[in-house]
Amino acid sequence: MKIMVVGGGGREHALIQKIAENPKVSQIYALPGNGGIAAQAECVPIGAKDIDGICRFAAEKGIDFAVVAQDDPLVLGAVDALNAIGVPCFGPDKKAAAIEGSKVFAKELMRKYHIPTAAYQVCGSIEEARDYLDQAAYPLVIKADGLALGKGVFICQDRQEADQAVTVIMEDKKFGASGDRIVVEEYLTGPEVSVLAFTDGHVLEPMVSSMDHKRIGDGDMGPNTGGMGTVAPNPYYTPEIARRCREEIFLPTMEAMNREGRPFKGCLYFGLMITAGGPKVIEYNCRFGDPEAQVVLPLLQSDLLEIMLAVSEERLAETEVRFSDQAACCVIAASQGYPGSYTGGLPIETGHMDGAILYHAGTKLQDGRLVTAGGRVLGVTAVAPTLNQARDKAYEEIQKIHFPGVYYRRDIGKRALAALEQN
Ligand code: AMP
Ligand code: GLY
Repeated sequence: MKIMVVGGGGREHALIQKIAENPKVSQIYALPGNGGIAAQAECVPIGAKDIDGICRFAAEKGIDFAVVAQDDPLVLGAVDALNAIGVPCFGPDKKAAAIEGSKVFAKELMRKYHIPTAAYQVCGSIEEARDYLDQAAYPLVIKADGLALGKGVFICQDRQEADQAVTVIMEDKKFGASGDRIVVEEYLTGPEVSVLAFTDGHVLEPMVSSMDHKRIGDGDMGPNTGGMGTVAPNPYYTPEIARRCREEIFLPTMEAMNREGRPFKGCLYFGLMITAGGPKVIEYNCRFGDPEAQVVLPLLQSDLLEIMLAVSEERLAETEVRFSDQAACCVIAASQGYPGSYTGGLPIETGHMDGAILYHAGTKLQDGRLVTAGGRVLGVTAVAPTLNQARDKAYEEIQKIHFPGVYYRRDIGKRALAALEQN
């Protein structure tokens, strides 16, 4: 089979490594891929948002199956366009991808179907937003409606901070049309859990839970990033919480999408907060998380491609989805300056990973040499019987990575370990 994967980050590297394990696979193309993916797949310089280019390439190469892994092509309708030319895909169509593409849509869905989430108000203009913020209780959370590279969420302690957020999103239009509307949300507290789930619209199979570390600095300080590291499983996701999530959130969400005429097929990502009042949805994503995929996929024991084909053909019920009961830890090595501005093109030495997996994210090959090409550059994942061992191994191996200004958090998994000790 000829497989095409759309995207080029650490998540796509993890997906490709797993897909390549299937003996039916003869060739994998990555659009655009990265410097590490190039070892397993042919990287093709077509951007993930270039839907026409992606379709032309798929037709030309006779692609048998496409995996659209990144949010923007999904929200732009890449799956619809590929299906229209007869290429089956893993990933939701445009109507279903709205669950991530519009936070207003996601919140209205949850309100209509009584799915637990933070209370909220939608504001469609700056005046409306300022009037609402005058009488709101603080702290609160302001979110741009559309995609914003994970940077469209502002936690506001007071009216002044809320005003600044409205200015950035709605007046300066930092995220373009994504900021035409905002969602103002109640501020929730509690540990966060990411749960990715395979669903074909009929059944839903949650994967092993994970914990992201979104802030740039140790102790969860500083600005938000795409994610600086992950661990799996997440100790806050107890069997009782898992049961409640399934009954109160996962299945109702799948059903709600069906009732709205937007059946979701692909990987549905639940960003959850375990509050004193039970689990609540913080966000939905219409794809695998990055770097959640880098800890979840190494623990998957079943064949990923077979699951993806089953999702696309709506026969997930008869397909095995099994995970190892080991633990995984992924630490991201980032460019100096990220999530602000940073320089690319710096030479990278990765050394030889011994008992860990190296996932490439922002890397590229330049004249045969590996150089940095993004904020999050590499991820090191270790799998071991305990989280403690996985964490130690990931930190041991990441020391072999060198490029000028390399930065990584030192406390990935620390909070999870502390929670395990309390249990
Ligand atoms: P999101 O991109 O929607 O996941 O938001 C990014 C981060 O902001 C989340 O991981 C949370 O840590 C935080 N956040 C989002 N919504 C809320 C909320 N309603 N209450 C508290 N924190 C939130
Ligand atoms: N790690 C969070 C995300 O993929 O959205």
